[in-house]
Amino acid sequence: MGHDKLRKFAENETFSCLLQPSAAELLADGYFALRDHPVKGRWGERFASPDAPLVLELGCGKGEYTVALAERVPDKNYVGVDIKGARLWKGAKYATEHALGNVGFLRTRIEFITAFFAPDEVSELWLTFSDPQVRSENSRLTSPLFLERYSKFLAPGGLIHLKTDSQFLYQYTLAVCRANALPVVESSEDLYAEADRFDPCLTEVQTFYEGMFREQGYPIKYLCFRLSAAPAGTGADGLPEQRFVSPADFDADYWRSVEGHRTLFGRDTAETRRQKLKGR
Ligand SMILES: C[S@@+](CC[C@H](N)C(=O)[O-])C[C@H]1O[C@@H](n2cnc3c(N)ncnc32)[C@H](O)[C@@H]1O
Repeated sequence: MGHDKLRKFAENETFSCLLQPSAAELLADGYFALRDHPVKGRWGERFASPDAPLVLELGCGKGEYTVALAERVPDKNYVGVDIKGARLWKGAKYATEHALGNVGFLRTRIEFITAFFAPDEVSELWLTFSDPQVRSENSRLTSPLFLERYSKFLAPGGLIHLKTDSQFLYQYTLAVCRANALPVVESSEDLYAEADRFDPCLTEVQTFYEGMFREQGYPIKYLCFRLSAAPAGTGADGLPEQRFVSPADFDADYWRSVEGHRTLFGRDTAETRRQKLKGR
């Protein structure tokens, strides 16, 4: 492991805003069940205003968006979730150095999210530039499987915001909303072309990947919907759980072909990026 990563991991241990549970803390009963983490239902205690609404960003990467939203909206609490510690380091360091009392970070797999948040504890969810997972529906963060997980902690009428460069993920999520009668609050296939229709915050605050995709000329899509309407059942844990269905009318092959090939430029210099774009 690189020296820089080790330094960030060591510094992560010192950030009180960053929660990094070990797998052993979560995996109980010989790995067949998830054990609830003690923070579940008690997130408010970690913030300056314990009763403020709680907003999550899943797959927050370096946490720029979580931090920027928290600075703009001080009367809500924000938690960024990601599995990569070296990325979370950036947001956690910023929040620590700027003494932000409404920001937290959680290092975990999103698959484990229900171990951390209690029923109705979360009021809004952001999914920012999530991998569209074009081959694996159950890995998509807007699939019925993930919506069921979110329904266990999202308050009634809670909002889910999706920002994406991916036509595939955007169309899939619209189809999931139609199939489950989930109310779509707002949507755009080209957010920046229609910026005047939306809260300025949506275009004034950008994630790291959003900046890269915009630079490459991809239109940014935005969808905001509510988790409601799907009939309730009982989950394996005995708790009520909403049931969601896959969209039968979603033509994955067609939208995969529309998606085409994505290039991310990683650490390239601006000049190298321009050369690569010319060669596309
Ligand atoms: C394409 S990046 C987007 C990062 C950030 N939202 C942005 O727009 O700049 C996707 C992020 O999701 C995280 N991620 C992907 N799958 C995950 C999972 N199952 N659990 C936790 N984090 C995950 C990755 O570590 C990565 O930081």
